Formats: sequence, C-alpha cells, structure tokens
Amino acid sequence: LANDLGITPPMGWNSWNHFNCKIDEKIIKETADALVATGLAKLGYEYVNIDDCWAEMIRDEKGTLVAKKSTFPSGIKALADYVHSKGLKLGIYSDAGYFTCSKTMPGSLGHEEKDAKTFASWGIDYLKYDNCNNDGSRPTDRYPIMTRALMKAGRPIFFSLCEWGDMHPALWGSNVGNSWRTTNDIQDTWDSMMSRADMNDVYAQYARPGGWNDPDMLEVGNGGMTKDEYIVHFSIWAISKAPLLIGCDVRNTTKETLDIIGNKEVIAVNQDPLGVQAKKVRSEGDQEIWAGPLSDYRVALLLVNRGPWRYSVTANWDDLGLPSGTVVEARDLWEHKTLEKQFVGSLTATMDSHACKMYILKPIS
Ligand code: DGJ
Repeated sequence: LANDLGITPPMGWNSWNHFNCKIDEKIIKETADALVATGLAKLGYEYVNIDDCWAEMIRDEKGTLVAKKSTFPSGIKALADYVHSKGLKLGIYSDAGYFTCSKTMPGSLGHEEKDAKTFASWGIDYLKYDNCNNDGSRPTDRYPIMTRALMKAGRPIFFSLCEWGDMHPALWGSNVGNSWRTTNDIQDTWDSMMSRADMNDVYAQYARPGGWNDPDMLEVGNGGMTKDEYIVHFSIWAISKAPLLIGCDVRNTTKETLDIIGNKEVIAVNQDPLGVQAKKVRSEGDQEIWAGPLSDYRVALLLVNRGPWRYSVTANWDDLGLPSGTVVEARDLWEHKTLEKQFVGSLTATMDSHACKMYILKPIS
C-alpha cells in the first residue's frame, strides 16, 4: 500500500497468542515497559498491538467505539500517549464485519470512516482488520473501504489485513494493506508452525516493501515447542520477511526466549532493504533448503531438518542463484561466527531433528 509504511516487515508484539481475550491496560503498559527494559525495543520491536476484546459491545450515542470500562478504564488515547512516551507505537484491532471474531465487541462494517477517524484521533499507528461475522460480501469489496477511510484519517496507520482462505489476499492485498494473512491461526506446536510456513511460501512472489505475506504471529516463548523448534520458527519467519510480532508474555520472558527473538543478525535478514521473501528452493524428504537474496549480492540461506533423526543437507549454488564458481564467506547467524572455511559450489551442514542452520553467504570472489 502506498502509505510509506511497512517498507521493511513490521516488528512488535500482539496480545492474542498469549492472552486471547484476557487483556487490560495494565498488561499493555507493562508490555511496553518490558519491550524497553529487555532491549527488544532497541532491536526494532516498536508496535504494541492490542488484539480482539478491547471495546464495549455498544458504541456511544455518537456512534464512536468505546474502550471496555472494566479493563481499559483510562481509554485508548491515554494508552497511546503512554506507549508513545516510551518511544513505541500502539496498534489496535477491528473487523470488516458486524462483530469481531470473539463477538464481544462491534466490528467496523458500515462505520469505517468514523472508526478510522477515531483511531487516528486516539493516536493509533497500526490496525489489524479481521474478517469475522461479515455480511457475506467479498473482502475485496469491504477491505478497501477501510483502506480509503484510513488514508483520509490524517495519520499514518499500518494496515494489516487479517483475511485468508479462498480469496487469496496475497493476490490483491498489496493495493489494500501493508500485510495480509496467508494462513488461518497458528498454534503453539511444531506441526502448526511448519504448516503455516509452507502455506505462506506459496505466495512468496507477492511480498515486497510496503506489503508483506503474514503467516501469523510468533509463538516463541509460549512453551509448546522446543528451543530448536522455536529457532526454526523464528528463522523461517525472518527469512520469509514475515511480520515479527512477538506473541508471548514479554514481562516474564526467559533468557532462552530473548536470545531467539533478540538475535540481531537474524532480525537483520528480516529487515534487509532488498525486501525479497526467501523461498523453499529445494527439499529432499525431510530436509529443506530455504534461500533468498539480500542486499549487496549476499544470500540468506536456511537449512531445516524436519525429520526425526540427525541429518546432513547440502545447498548447491544452483539452488541459490549463485554462479557456480563463486567463492563465499559464510556467517552462521545462530553461532554468531564467520566460518573459517570458504565455500565454492555448495555448503553442507548437519542438523539435529527439528533444528536448522542459518547463514548469510557473502561472495568474495
Ligand atoms: C482471528 C485472528 O486470526 C487471530 O489472530 C485473532 O485476531 C482472533 N481472530 C481474535 O478474535
């Protein structure tokens, strides 16, 4: 979308994966504090996004959405001021239907201009727009109404389309929003996560600066996967130029989680200015090679072992778009070291079950 936002994939946090509907202003404020205290804010995690369940079921007499009095007594404007005072941005959630998915609050269908103006007046920076409980018309009819409403609202607002399925939002999303979902909801399991990765891969060619494929938010830190599995999760999301929206409770995070979501070198792959989504370029049984170009003629390479045993896999330059004689230096992004050996023609690595290796290959001659 031509609103100058999402030039690289958005980074931040969202309440849904960990808290579902059990949110309140205290959690949002403490999360903003924690993003700063942990150093995650400095690494680029800037959006603090409130998901479903933040509003009263009934609009006020002027038709304005009202924050839920029992959980957001200070109102959203005050929350935005607080989040902004920490140098962060506030995101909110609505729906292109009569009610949101939780059915605990109204949607914006028929109220698009009013709601866009309200969000802008509160200081909202990001809108996630769901597709539940709608009137059965096409999302391609309903979503652009909100896009235009946001464009007139007088504040830059990142527009995240939460729509997937038969309408293939990747095919039309780039004129309508800054990101679009390519999958239904993720769960905190290896199978769910890897199947989202596969579904998202199909649409790789549609991602670009200003509009990204969204395989749903991160589960790292929520406890359902092993450390290696979370490393695979974060690596695939990063190399796929997916939004990096943390989905755990950052107020109570472990060092292990922080080392994963705080890996600067992996984040840099996600935020690379070239903005090209890597693809699964080859798979051999359970072994997969994901790769894509980075700025300065570098290549991001991710080798994934989906199988139950330790295994070796070889990436050939042919798979990576490198001329066969190219000599490269390989930087291991999880070991944080540049390998002593230089590589020509191929690179082989051995991985444990449900583990990966991630490299940046830099041509040196
Ligand atoms: C469906 C979305 O995919 C989820 O991420 C979340 O926003 C829920 N709706 C909220 O009801």
